[in-house]
Amino acid sequence: MHAFACEVELTEEEWRRGIVALTETGRITDDRRQEFILWSDVLGLSMLVEGLAHPKPDGATESTVLGPFWAEGSLERAYGEAIFDSAVGEPAWIHGTDGTPIADASLDVWQNDANELYGVQDAEAPEAHLRGRFRTREDGSYAFVGVRPVPYRIPHDGPVGAMLAATSRHPWRPAHLHMIVSAPGYQTLTTHVFDAESPHLDSDAVFAVKPSLLREFVRDGVRWSVQNDIVLARA
Ligand code: BEZ
Ligand code: FE
Repeated sequence: MHAFACEVELTEEEWRRGIVALTETGRITDDRRQEFILWSDVLGLSMLVEGLAHPKPDGATESTVLGPFWAEGSLERAYGEAIFDSAVGEPAWIHGTDGTPIADASLDVWQNDANELYGVQDAEAPEAHLRGRFRTREDGSYAFVGVRPVPYRIPHDGPVGAMLAATSRHPWRPAHLHMIVSAPGYQTLTTHVFDAESPHLDSDAVFAVKPSLLREFVRDGVRWSVQNDIVLARA
């Protein structure tokens, strides 16, 4: 038997399996894949730290996990521009204001396509696929054309996936898109827009759903439309 300071006792076999999982975690981690952070996500630790680190005043938009698919250096795009050249998913007009309103706030957005994949995961996709940086207009408004996001599975071919399977958990995340919103004098907000009709909202593999972040996608002619207003907390 081995004992931790917190007095959890492990059998030799449990100890051995833990070491194997950690070794596999190191083996599968590289520049593109971070299995250690994925452990933190699926154990709920990322959301716990996120909640402690970013308490939000009443009325401010809530934050949630960053996830592994953000990439630096997205293209600066104009109001209303599409974040893809060609995509599999159904087009969606994603728009809103930042409540104060704040002119020239920065929005860094990224999302997956209907094949489940983010641009950074998809070897076939152009570098700028389904991501971009926008600025709010004088009245605080922003808009762009994305696609209606679909639920997807987090990377589950490694030790994290083995743990999920062994504990009868699934690897799905509900459909969402990501935003980082920043403006001078305000706290930078890392958040999601969740599709209010998505499956898995009540069993997100990384526990990152907050009811205040659910939004309805509505039909607007040939495309979808979703309104997502944002309120930033003062720094
Ligand atoms: C994501 O939403 O992109 C994500 C977050 C945590 C783990 C895996 C994926
Ligand atoms: Fe995501």
